[in-house]
Amino acid sequence: TVYRAGTTAPVNIAVVKYWGKRDAKLNLPTNSSISVTLSQADLRTLTTASCSTTFTEDSLTLNGELSDISGARTQACFRELRARRAALEASDSSLPKLSTMPLKIVSENNFPTAAGLASSAAGFAALVQAIANLYELPDSPSDLSLIARQGSGSACRSLFGGYVAWRMGEREDGSDSKADLVAEASHWPSMRALILVASAAKKGVSSTSGMQQTVATSGLFKERIERIVPDNMVAMEDAIHNRNFEKFAEVSMRDSNSFHACCADTYPPIFYMNDVSRAAIRAVESINAKAGKTIAAYTFDAGPNCVVYYLEEDKEAVLGAFSETLGSTSGWRAGVGSQSGVLDE
Ligand code: DP6
Repeated sequence: TVYRAGTTAPVNIAVVKYWGKRDAKLNLPTNSSISVTLSQADLRTLTTASCSTTFTEDSLTLNGELSDISGARTQACFRELRARRAALEASDSSLPKLSTMPLKIVSENNFPTAAGLASSAAGFAALVQAIANLYELPDSPSDLSLIARQGSGSACRSLFGGYVAWRMGEREDGSDSKADLVAEASHWPSMRALILVASAAKKGVSSTSGMQQTVATSGLFKERIERIVPDNMVAMEDAIHNRNFEKFAEVSMRDSNSFHACCADTYPPIFYMNDVSRAAIRAVESINAKAGKTIAAYTFDAGPNCVVYYLEEDKEAVLGAFSETLGSTSGWRAGVGSQSGVLDE
């Protein structure tokens, strides 16, 4: 017998950024973060997990190619999920012993991995959710986020739809460092994201290594985690609850700027943005100046691509301006989406 289950998981783009680990092995962050989940009709990872005594070893195929699963992060996810399944099997002897069978994971993105979009978040969230479905684990999305976090920090936020917080937690074992829901997608459904591809090249410094260098060498970073991020967390949750776009936008842009300032303050410095990125910032500023209020917000992760948040009612002003200023730049548009396994549209 081959046992099989599948899921999809969404991409999330942070508006208060995770940058810095206090424990690199457990992926425990130096600060909390908040993201918006993008709709899976536009961007998602589709993963099936199967297991059977006839398989010879664990394997993971990503977009048609066999991937290396020997890394500590993938192994941690497999180990944690197997342990939870083994606990179920121990309490109910009628259950098949799936925890002892080799796993075969097959994963596909509906967007090019090469586009430099955060695919590790959706990838690890889908991997964890698919195996949890296969094992019929009773764990909540928050419980599963503890496991996905060990795959990639930002992945813990892709277990939920809508507006999601990753609470940094305090405990050394990481048991309180997990994601929770700030608001459902339906709370503020007019939110839109425009992803502008400034470069499809693979990023220079990986987030994992970049954030370690920042923690070790940046003086500004201390100010960011002690004062800036805690303030931004409060302001952002408030903006989301009150559907206050101007505040949402200002905090997003300030937080992105603060994160990239810490990258520049890293020694030697790390630069993720390029000339196209900076042109996108100027375009957003001119859109807002022309509108006489803030109707667009930019944010950048560990790469040059720009994500612009705006509301559906301002679509023409925002998209029109981008097609004028940035010409041929390729982009994606996405709405706010739902959680793993629940396909919207
Ligand atoms: C800039 O989650 O990719 O996108 O935990 O080392 O896998 P690891 O890092 P990762 O870092 C994401 C950093 C970011 C900000 C964010 O998504 O919050």
